[in-house]
Amino acid sequence: MENFPKKELVNIVQAGMLSSKSAFALAVGRFVAKLKHQDLPLAQELSRFLTVEHAMRGVGDFSPTPVDADTRMELVETVHPVVLQKAPVLDEATQGTLDSVLNEWENLEVLLHEGLAPARMLLFCGQPGVGKTLAAHWMAHELRLPLLTLNLATVMSSYLGKTGNNVRAVFDHAISRPCVLLLDEFDAIAKRRDDDSDVGELKRLVNVLLQALDDWPANSMLIAATNHGELLDPAVWRRFDHVLHFELPSKDLIARYLDYLPVADQVRTTLAALLHGESFSTIDQLIRTARKAALIEKSDLAPILVRRALRLRMSKGGMTKPYEGEMVMMYLDGRSYREIATHFDKTHPTVSRVIKRYLGE
Ligand SMILES: Nc1ncnc2c1ncn2[C@@H]1O[C@H](COP(=O)(O)OP(=O)(O)OP(=O)(O)O)[C@@H](O)[C@H]1O
Ligand SMILES: [Mg+2]
Repeated sequence: MENFPKKELVNIVQAGMLSSKSAFALAVGRFVAKLKHQDLPLAQELSRFLTVEHAMRGVGDFSPTPVDADTRMELVETVHPVVLQKAPVLDEATQGTLDSVLNEWENLEVLLHEGLAPARMLLFCGQPGVGKTLAAHWMAHELRLPLLTLNLATVMSSYLGKTGNNVRAVFDHAISRPCVLLLDEFDAIAKRRDDDSDVGELKRLVNVLLQALDDWPANSMLIAATNHGELLDPAVWRRFDHVLHFELPSKDLIARYLDYLPVADQVRTTLAALLHGESFSTIDQLIRTARKAALIEKSDLAPILVRRALRLRMSKGGMTKPYEGEMVMMYLDGRSYREIATHFDKTHPTVSRVIKRYLGE
């Protein structure tokens, strides 16, 4: 009995009495992993109960959706099942991390037997429109779990003291069964800290949040999304298993994103070059309006797309000289370098340089 895992046994009892089903399963896993060295048959007998079904079992349905005490507005939006039209297009590093997390969840049972939990808290940072919310939806879809979304910016609009209660109510609701909880606009709390005089209340709110993160069960996933990761409290950062940085898409990613468009490869490459520097949501919007215009005008999609992409690039000051846009436009209309050069009274190499810069040709 000398090496008997006493501490782990105490943790089992504690988890069983005080915590969620998943915390209990995790504690049993830790106990079993240690016990294997002392009493293999007993460890094997106990590990029979460490199944995904047991670990994922919640207490049935969700508790009723929490509402704000004053406005009676629902504090959290629930989607189940999550239906996606298309998976997000992500860079290799981001996709790799998300895949590895999903892989851990697929092998939940193996992990549980060793007393290990899958990564369950992710922080998504990045500019607007690069796929943070979409990726959170995709994770819920892949995990086949309900998605609960709490928009912190909305909840924060009430009194701070009340915000703490609201946040706590949402967490209590979310842990009532396995799910993916998305905390959108997560920086709302951090931002508020800079310009709020009510420092004490805010500190309490951050503490409520930290406590809630510490108590997060092993059978649910928590994803926080923010445009301003740098504003977050380091104590908050540390609690996440992975911090993912969503960047503006590269030319290659844009080209992949445009894969479904019924246009020639050459047009796709041109568009990717012109739209480089834009977010996916801006690109998505441009495509949608162009498709509508093509339908209404009964004309080809490709030229409309390219012209709009070019106009966008010009409007953003992305072109050094005003005539450069016109040059590219002429080139796309099928005019030769020589014709363009004559038209603008420029040299052939100048035209070639401009075209190369914008279209990468
Ligand atoms: N990586 C991506 N792959 C495919 N589509 C994307 C991607 N990122 C954004 N989109 C498109 O843009 C829309 C908005 O993206 P999303 O809401 O995920 O952005 P976000 O990063 O959460 O932005 P915000 O910071 O403003 O909340 C999506 O519905 C989708 O159509
Ligand atoms: Mg978002």
